[in-house]
Amino acid sequence: MRLTPAQQQQFDREGYLFFPSLFTPEETRKLTDAVPELYERREAYNVREKGSEAVRTNFAAHMYSEPFARLARHPRMIEPVEDLFGEQLYMHQFKINGKMAFEGDVWQWHQDYGTWLNDDLMPTERAMNVAIFLDDVNEFNGPLMFIPGSHKKGVLEARHDLRTTSYPLWTVDNDLIRQLVERAGGRQGGIVSPKGPAGSMILFHSCLVHASTSNLSPFNRVSVYLSLCAVSNHIRRHKRPEYIAHRDFTPISCLPDDCLLKDYPVDLPWKDGLPASALQTSMDEFKLAA
Ligand code: SIN
Ligand code: MN
Repeated sequence: MRLTPAQQQQFDREGYLFFPSLFTPEETRKLTDAVPELYERREAYNVREKGSEAVRTNFAAHMYSEPFARLARHPRMIEPVEDLFGEQLYMHQFKINGKMAFEGDVWQWHQDYGTWLNDDLMPTERAMNVAIFLDDVNEFNGPLMFIPGSHKKGVLEARHDLRTTSYPLWTVDNDLIRQLVERAGGRQGGIVSPKGPAGSMILFHSCLVHASTSNLSPFNRVSVYLSLCAVSNHIRRHKRPEYIAHRDFTPISCLPDDCLLKDYPVDLPWKDGLPASALQTSMDEFKLAA
């Protein structure tokens, strides 16, 4: 799937593009059906909400689950980003966020590139998020919120929040959020939240400021996020384990467009469990040396 010049201009201006119902219900079901079994696993790659059994985020399913390995090579997700960067991509991070009914907790205001720079030493912002909804997203189940145009501000000052949720994040403080929302139009469009049926896709810039509230509704809001990085922009530090920040910079080769419906063969290197190397970090080497 290729972007039109008008879409490229819109992306440059707003920092995101929304594609409602890009995947059919039949395609989406192949993914949704695989999630409960993945979430049940007692593995490091399932991060649960604070004080709850509900999965907040599952990492790296493309390394051990066939439907997600196919999604990670889907031309509708990969090609638009290749167009924007004019370069091949590798998978920096792959996650299935739960935001489960009643239990899903907030994601504080942040830029993803803030974390990728501070933790992983990713040299520039040439990386992109592509999200696909596996459930309908509405105003009740904690939709993503964006501040349009905030990507133009580059890397903003951030604070490492280890306290609010079960997942550490570099977050942007309230005063700066107030200014950014005002600049984007205040009550008239200063915050947007794309909502739509399961199968919808959002592509958003790694510096776009975003957040989501908790899910007090009885509706799950499972979404998959591919974080795609230009190969030349690969990370320079392995402070975080490999299942969170990948270290294989091989360019992604797309499968055909019908890959969610046909059983094209895919490699599943972690299907028998996480290798010890995927849990190791450069901080372990530091500890050994100390
Ligand atoms: C994220 O920012 O990485 C996730 C936000 C969400 O799933 O609501
Ligand atoms: Mn994020």
